[in-house]
Amino acid sequence: MRFVPLFAAFSATLSLCAQELPRTTWITLPKDTVDADKLPAAFRTGRREALRALLPEHGVAVLSAATIKNRSNDVDYEFHQDPDFHYLTGVDEPEALLLVFKEPRLVRGEPVNELLVVRDRDARSEVWTGERLGAPGAKAVSGVSMTLGAQAFAGTDLPLGPKDRLFGGPVPAGKAYDQVRPLALEKADLDRWMAELREQKLPEELVLMRKAIAITCEAERTLMRALAPGMTEYQAEAVVQYVFTASGAEHEGYPSILGGGAHSCVLHYETNRAALKAGDLLVSDVGAEYHGYTADVTRTLPVSGTFSPEQRTIYELELQAQEAGIAQVRAGNAFHAPHLAATTVIAEGLVRLGIIQDPGEVKRYFVHGTSHYLGLDVHDAGRYGPLRPGQVITVEPGIYIPEGSPCDPKWWNIGVRIE
Ligand code: GLY
Ligand code: MN
Repeated sequence: MRFVPLFAAFSATLSLCAQELPRTTWITLPKDTVDADKLPAAFRTGRREALRALLPEHGVAVLSAATIKNRSNDVDYEFHQDPDFHYLTGVDEPEALLLVFKEPRLVRGEPVNELLVVRDRDARSEVWTGERLGAPGAKAVSGVSMTLGAQAFAGTDLPLGPKDRLFGGPVPAGKAYDQVRPLALEKADLDRWMAELREQKLPEELVLMRKAIAITCEAERTLMRALAPGMTEYQAEAVVQYVFTASGAEHEGYPSILGGGAHSCVLHYETNRAALKAGDLLVSDVGAEYHGYTADVTRTLPVSGTFSPEQRTIYELELQAQEAGIAQVRAGNAFHAPHLAATTVIAEGLVRLGIIQDPGEVKRYFVHGTSHYLGLDVHDAGRYGPLRPGQVITVEPGIYIPEGSPCDPKWWNIGVRIE
């Protein structure tokens, strides 16, 4: 079995990593795993300027940080910043507030067109959970000239007048928010403006996305080399997670989907606990998140290393559908053009194979859309209008034939997605 050497290689590599990142091991580790490529404050400032340009007269955008979510007792879930807040500030702490004003106004005697509020430094808390940015740190990361700690903000007059229109989501509880919580906010418009900004990636964002995708492809390749009957779905997940973390990715962009056998037909399977047997397919849908940007790559692998004739037939049909979809990813095409092309290929193929009798039945086995935007979120913000240069979308048709489907049982438990 290849399973044992794989994990031997794992522990050898782990102990090496503790001293120095190896240059040649069974995985290729990127050389630049430091954080030097984080987006600079100038990027955040530019994004706030772009948001300001979309605000109407007397418009004020009000954005809150994500909240800490309690898991149980005194343990919280790992904090993950709200993507809009990260995009506009680069501040990845909870209890922070950003106000973007259309017109400049006086705050503490200074004319400003934006205001950032963050948690105060707190020596006792920082002993437990590490250093906070504080106002000076947040100012350096975000480029917001007027950055205040929550205490100072509580003693600052809110620079709002009767003509102002406030746009934003529900404001959570917390000291930084006390002054703005009672105000009425309009939500839908801000979501639309943020979608307009985020669907159009800037070159420096694409650098980070390419890196997230390169890490994820390396994880898929490593899994292909490691995969063998006798492994479990969670061991497959461990291989992927190892490559992500060792390559500098801070998070998974979404829970890894590693579904073998019948689970290959479960679209968002996240349990990842079952054994992988010879003859099974494994759908591996995973994405490293690097400096906020996530990849989303799916491969379907035969656990034994070889497809059965039926698996190969469905795999090739799926690949043909994906290629037809990719061919439609052209500026000016409707967002759903790749989906239409992929659906046509799958419908015709399934009819040809006798799995369905009429192309209209294709929805039984291809049950989701083909594309979504990709970026800070795996299903990223965007308006789903015509495709434009600078956008990033996925192309991921899928064919899923669960056990009990009304077709020859030789097709059952074949689930194939390529992305
Ligand atoms: N990676 C999961 C999805 O795109 O839905
Ligand atoms: Mn996807």
